[in-house]
Amino acid sequence: MTTSLPGPLRHFLQFRDFNRKEILYLLERAKLIKDRFKRYEPHRTLHDRTLAMVFEKASTRTRVSFEAGMYQMGGSVIHLTTTDSQLGRSEPIEDTARVVSRMVDLVMIRTFEQTRIERFASHSRVPVINGLTNEFHPCQILADIFTYIEHRGTIEGRTVAWIGDANNMAYTWLQAAELLDFKVHVSTPPGYQLDAARIRQIPARHLQVFDDPFEACKGADLVTTDVWTSMGYEDENEIRRKAFANWCVTMEMMDLAAPNALFMHCLPAHRGEEVAADVIDGPQSVVWDEAENRLHVQKALMEFLVLGPQT
Ligand code: CP
Repeated sequence: MTTSLPGPLRHFLQFRDFNRKEILYLLERAKLIKDRFKRYEPHRTLHDRTLAMVFEKASTRTRVSFEAGMYQMGGSVIHLTTTDSQLGRSEPIEDTARVVSRMVDLVMIRTFEQTRIERFASHSRVPVINGLTNEFHPCQILADIFTYIEHRGTIEGRTVAWIGDANNMAYTWLQAAELLDFKVHVSTPPGYQLDAARIRQIPARHLQVFDDPFEACKGADLVTTDVWTSMGYEDENEIRRKAFANWCVTMEMMDLAAPNALFMHCLPAHRGEEVAADVIDGPQSVVWDEAENRLHVQKALMEFLVLGPQT
């Protein structure tokens, strides 16, 4: 059943599409939804609603968490990929958006350029969620912040060390830092630094850049990283393997962080590349909670976009 939205059409294409109050609401709501899930209590607020998921890149966590989440909330899911839809046969993304959004209540897209999801959203009648683009991964950072709060309390005033590629995760952490008032230490290899134009407006209280990844980890409350080669950049694999060799999160780095520092990785991980096995499989790692929490925060997000805030 597709019905009208409770207010103006909203999308979640990047983290700062929501204001601080809305992000805090989602985090609170996700906690309630997770508590109910753990008690096997139904939470079927999206009964009869339909989510279309469009994947132009591979996924495990994003697909399972959105699909399971929608079914658990009483809705249903349609899964499309480039190869099994007309998107792979050059149907314009704008036409796809016009058609799909007449038939469903919500769309999640994983694609390449941010401009592609923006083009879809601007022709959609229903909310659109970014399930990862080359530029941003807002659902993952929502889950990461939820996970940090779950383990350590507020993230406000904390320091997150980002070690490795200046990718979609790094830029989304930076948007979150400005919104929720924490700081990100970023260390990337030479030649793979943050884009100066994209960080020009970020105040020093939210971003500090380090050449040395060990320096970046000093005193950090959370150390986090991602694969050296993100999806879509596979041609650079060999050259990146050499360039990123010193940007592997090791126990030596974790020892420089705050005594109760956590380790996160959005997964999939390559042990021995961006993270040592004893870190990701060690006691400071919360990567499995982080993955599970995609389910809970995205349920809160989908509910908010379709129904508005719930009391
Ligand atoms: N972290 C994440 O988005 O995982 P998938 O690529 O498996 O969806």
